[in-house]
Amino acid sequence: MGQLTRTGIAIDADLLDRFDRFIAKQGYPNRSEAFRDLIRDRLVGAVIGLPEAHVVGTITLIYDHHSRLLPDKLMDLQHNHHGVIIATTHVHLDHDTCLEVIVVKGQAKQVQKLADVLIGTKGVRHGRLVMSSPAAVLPKTA
Ligand code: NI
Repeated sequence: MGQLTRTGIAIDADLLDRFDRFIAKQGYPNRSEAFRDLIRDRLVGAVIGLPEAHVVGTITLIYDHHSRLLPDKLMDLQHNHHGVIIATTHVHLDHDTCLEVIVVKGQAKQVQKLADVLIGTKGVRHGRLVMSSPAAVLPKTA
C-alpha cells in the first residue's frame, strides 16, 4: 500500500445511511475499506473497457457433457485462442454437467472475443467473463 492520505467528502445523509447498511451486509470492517474497493472497482472498470488494455480474467462455462460434439468444439476453440489462455480447469459437476474455468491473459478485445465465442456456442447453458487489471490498482513502483 502507498502512503495514506486522509480526505473528507460531502454526501447526502440518506445515501450514506444506505451505503453503511450495504457495507455492513457485505462485511466491510469500515467505510474506508469500502470506499477504497469502490474506487478500485471503477478504476479497473475504466481500464478493462479499453480494447487494447492488458487484462487478466476468467471465463466460466456450464455445459452439458452429452451435447453433441460440444466438448470437442469448446476444446478446438480454446486451441484456436491458445495465446490468451493460461490454464483451464474442468470439473464434472454431475453425470451430465460440466463446469469449466478458463484463466485468460491478454488484450481485452482478444479476451472478450474468446469469451463471446465460447459462451455463444450452442449447448453452453451459462457463461460469464470476469476481467481485471492488476496494473489499474497496484501501487506504482518507483
Ligand atoms: Ni465434465
